[in-house]
Amino acid sequence: MSKIKRHIFVCENIRDKSNSKQSCGRLGGIENREELKRRLRELGLSKNIRANKSGCLGACHHGPVAVVYPEGRWYGEIELDDIEEIIQKDLINNEVVKRLEIEDDY
Ligand code: FES
Repeated sequence: MSKIKRHIFVCENIRDKSNSKQSCGRLGGIENREELKRRLRELGLSKNIRANKSGCLGACHHGPVAVVYPEGRWYGEIELDDIEEIIQKDLINNEVVKRLEIEDDY
């Protein structure tokens, strides 16, 4: 059995519409994780790298948000078109995707 080496936790939180805080799940977080899972499977990487569903990660105003562990790299305002770059640069080559990185303490 192969061991999972890395996780990308993708916020899919959906708040009630009456809540003024934004929710990653309404901004594309669900679709982002679906695409991550699809591409990781397609590339044969899904045994070692998992795209896990997450609740609120506390960085809502940067949404949609994801965090890569064990490195603890945070990404925000992720669009569907960014998924391939996250996979290729971060998940495969262990490089930060600078333009999506959340640098403040949110
Ligand atoms: S709703 Fe996604 S980080 Fe809070």
